[in-house]
Amino acid sequence: MLNLNKQVKIKQLPVGIPKENDFYIEENKIPDLQEGFFLAKSQILSLDPYVRAVMSGRHFYNAPQSGSVMRSRGVAKIIDSRHPDYNKDDLVVMETGMQEYCVSNGDDAYFADTGDAPLSTALGVLGMPGLTSYAALLGPASIKKDDVVLVSAASGAVGSMVSQIAKIKGGKTIGIAGSDEKCSWCLENARFDFCINRKKDNLDEVLSEIAPNGVDIFFDNTGGEIQHTVLTKHIADYSRIIISGLMTQYNVSEAPPGPNLGNIVKMKATIYGFVVYDFEHMREKFINDVKGWYADGLINFKEDITSGIETAPSQFIKLMNGNNFGKTLVDVTN
Ligand SMILES: NC(=O)c1ccc[n+]([C@@H]2O[C@H](COP(=O)([O-])OP(=O)(O)OC[C@H]3O[C@@H](n4cnc5c(N)ncnc54)[C@H](OP(=O)(O)O)[C@@H]3O)[C@@H](O)[C@H]2O)c1
Repeated sequence: MLNLNKQVKIKQLPVGIPKENDFYIEENKIPDLQEGFFLAKSQILSLDPYVRAVMSGRHFYNAPQSGSVMRSRGVAKIIDSRHPDYNKDDLVVMETGMQEYCVSNGDDAYFADTGDAPLSTALGVLGMPGLTSYAALLGPASIKKDDVVLVSAASGAVGSMVSQIAKIKGGKTIGIAGSDEKCSWCLENARFDFCINRKKDNLDEVLSEIAPNGVDIFFDNTGGEIQHTVLTKHIADYSRIIISGLMTQYNVSEAPPGPNLGNIVKMKATIYGFVVYDFEHMREKFINDVKGWYADGLINFKEDITSGIETAPSQFIKLMNGNNFGKTLVDVTN
């Protein structure tokens, strides 16, 4: 007989940085399986910053209500199936929600395929964050040899893959991260040529020194002051700007006033509102490329992983405080 399904639910929508008491754990019966559906046991849950934007009602997904199961993508193992395309023991990537068991008709699922890499990478370098970096660089940013690529939140799942893929494509990479420890990891493991500590260094002065002609690609994961400084003074002629994420805005109720984009015009730069879900057509090639690069020793990754569904809220809070270090995951195998 199956256990009850332990779920992380929203008590109230957070104001500012989410707090432990914005969430609660509830145990519920696992739903009966209907024809055309499968039942899966979550293995690893992915905690992602965009979920905070969804909670603020500032995302194209509908905002959750009090009592909703927290949103989460995960790797899950199918334990029972009445679906023609999915069998017991298949490992899938899907919207599991922050819960131990989930039922799906397969619409949002695909088979986990990580080659030589660990299963958890289906949520990191070989998952949605990896595809974000890959699709944006090879798609709208049109990376080419010798491009100078600047990326914020550099030690994260997205940022660290931006550097590694940019280096494979012959670029030079500069990261922006929030501590010396993160910067050292970026330099030693994610092949960054340079890393700026956003809490210690003067971004404007350092960029003037190390990228005097401006950056060709700015991959912005944070917005705010970093975006303002870079767009105002540090972009090159015909630069490409990927607005990928706005970490500075996810926890605030009111979005801050926008930057002055005059320099975008002056430098004939392209701004591209980037959403990874438009790039599903690149997934197969992305998985094959990254598996090959991983097998050749060209891809490193860092994970910030805890064990047990109960740790999911504190992991999410850590992520939203910027205190995570690497792809934030929760192991719910046991
Ligand atoms: N557009 C898309 O389709 C798409 C898809 C996936 C992810 N994203 C975006 O990519 C970004 C990175 O995601 P990830 O999963 O790889 O997370 P992550 O980088 O592991 O975690 C977020 C990082 O953002 C930085 N940060 C947090 N608060 C900040 C603040 N107030 N100011 C500046 N930096 C702050 C912190 O790093 P430091 O302290 O080191 O700066 C933190 O570790 C997010 O903005 C996410 O929304 C976009």
